[in-house]
Amino acid sequence: MIDHSTISRIFSAADIVEVIGEFVNLKRSGQNYKGLSPFTNEKTPSFFVSPAKGIFKCFSSGIGGNVVTFLMEHEKLSYPEALKYLARKYNIEITEKEVTEEELQQIDDRESMLALNLFAQKYYSDNLYNTEEGRAIGLSYYHEREFRDDIINKFQLGYSREQKDALTKTALNNGYKMNYLLKTGLSIQKEDYHFDRFHGRIMFPIHGLSGQILGFGARILKKDEKSAKYLNSPESDVYHKSNILYGIYFARQSIIKNDKCYLVEGYTDVISMHQAGFENVIASSGTSLTVEQIRLIKRFTKNVTVLYDGDDAGIKASMRGIDLILEEGLNVKVVLFPEGEDPDSFARNKSATGFTDFIRNNESDFITFKTRLLIKDSKSDPIKHATLITDVVHSIAVIPDGITRTVYIRQCSKMLDIDERMLYAEIRKIRRKKAEQKYHYNQVYTNYPEKESKSIQKTRPDTEFFTIERDIIRILLNYGNRKAIKVTSGTNHEELISVAQYIVNEIESDDLEFKDPVLKTIYSEINQAIFDGKEIDEKYFLFHPDDEIARISVDLLATTHQLSKIWEKHETFVETEDMRLKEIVPETVNAFKNKKVVALIKETQQQLRVSQENNDADNILLLQQRFIVLNELKKNLSKSLGDRIII
Ligand code: CTP
Ligand code: MN
Repeated sequence: MIDHSTISRIFSAADIVEVIGEFVNLKRSGQNYKGLSPFTNEKTPSFFVSPAKGIFKCFSSGIGGNVVTFLMEHEKLSYPEALKYLARKYNIEITEKEVTEEELQQIDDRESMLALNLFAQKYYSDNLYNTEEGRAIGLSYYHEREFRDDIINKFQLGYSREQKDALTKTALNNGYKMNYLLKTGLSIQKEDYHFDRFHGRIMFPIHGLSGQILGFGARILKKDEKSAKYLNSPESDVYHKSNILYGIYFARQSIIKNDKCYLVEGYTDVISMHQAGFENVIASSGTSLTVEQIRLIKRFTKNVTVLYDGDDAGIKASMRGIDLILEEGLNVKVVLFPEGEDPDSFARNKSATGFTDFIRNNESDFITFKTRLLIKDSKSDPIKHATLITDVVHSIAVIPDGITRTVYIRQCSKMLDIDERMLYAEIRKIRRKKAEQKYHYNQVYTNYPEKESKSIQKTRPDTEFFTIERDIIRILLNYGNRKAIKVTSGTNHEELISVAQYIVNEIESDDLEFKDPVLKTIYSEINQAIFDGKEIDEKYFLFHPDDEIARISVDLLATTHQLSKIWEKHETFVETEDMRLKEIVPETVNAFKNKKVVALIKETQQQLRVSQENNDADNILLLQQRFIVLNELKKNLSKSLGDRIII
């Protein structure tokens, strides 16, 4: 909503060296500047900034771009957020266009609520340090729990006094409106009387991604059976419980740097872990983990380690969490603490190194975790053993990526000593059932394919996958309707199917996901058409309501002659086009699978390196196994790819 002339003013005002210099220590090197990459943990600088061109390039991660791209990558800001950041820095007033009265009102409301929350946070902190009651009760409670002063300060912890209208009165006296006190939930109205929601509690402010105060968690100090241990801000325009991760503001950088985050249950766990030296920690606090929270994590890392209580509730919560995290395509590990301990209590009872060692030694892959946990009491009980298998199989079945699933199936087969084919069959059944439910849902509720067009994010093409994904879509758009592929059916009966049917079958049976958002949307629309028994309508894509899709379709339909490697190879023995198709199509699909496998191999090697650094014997073994399985898969694919092996 920021208009063009403002955007260009921001771009011309922003000094890329100055902006990046706030995050990276840059040294002049000829015409350029040089420093250690903020995206990797490198020892020798390979990060360059060119003030003349206005760009940066990181040679160790491959990331590069302009000043806005840098902020988007490094600070994980959206495009408008990055622009606003620069506008603030260079005192440029932002003119936003096409904002309705109503939207303006909403923006005003949100800003007023955030301003009031900030006031409240300062007030609660002031109460903690500068009132007799705050020091005697609040501060001494924190100290009793061995929270260090720098940590209390960092997390902006506070105290709300016993007096039931202390905040409400002070805020009104400072010009804040009753309306917003009620909207944020800081005050409560009963008939004509207004009073504070939080009193006599220690206060945990809850920060958003960029440090704004969205709400509060408040812990009671007395052991009071009647009142809840924690009171939290109610849902409001600024506080959406299911989207919030406690600690994300303080953990962000560390999560990116370590490419990993620890997920704990509560406020005090986050704080204690920071104190023990782990900064990449966040909590779902007060809700069981939601899909929105997992997607928020996914913006920063694909690797999550869940740290939960060893009691029944903790185990249950981690089991549920694991499947949800897997379903979003993330990697998950688990650390269980001894019964009755949470990360906070455990960290306090151990030395810093003892705590670190415990986490390293007890972090296990979800499949090992589930198996170990359940195998304990199922050894001699065949029914329990069967339940264990079902449980593990269900977790594997939710993983979206087909090749990752294959790898887990092999491991599971080894660990539980079950025939792989049986596992495959079982998992296929579960997935089919799910797909049917989803299809049914679409039929009943939408009637036509979900259109994500409006929400497609424009991202840089992921060059690694982009080319092969584009090849597939190009074939689909150009030749999808040709009946050119011969297959043998179950009754040994040969039949010709269309190129699109073949590709969709292959991709769906392995659940290969497209990475590029635009190509992904085109694929899913084609998939739906094939599923409905329709043909691919070229014109539909050429004049697609989403201009990004239309543009790329024009490109792909116009450039059949711009041949990819596969096409070139076949140029030498050109026969009829249809004859070429029957070779090119399976090869392209295999090349796509190969890409996926190669990416997973890289990821596994990386994890293996980390495990070796940490002397983590269990994981080393597991990862080595996985490495072997992936290489076998790759070998098989390579055979069918002939000399077009991608390493
Ligand atoms: N929680 C909540 N409301 C409650 C109880 C818990 O919102 N009535 C949330 C809080 O975010 C809390 C988390 O669930 O941090 C975990 O609860 P619990 O383990 O009971 O609290 P701890 O964080 O361990 O707090 P403490 O160590 O002070 O007991
Ligand atoms: Mn606790």
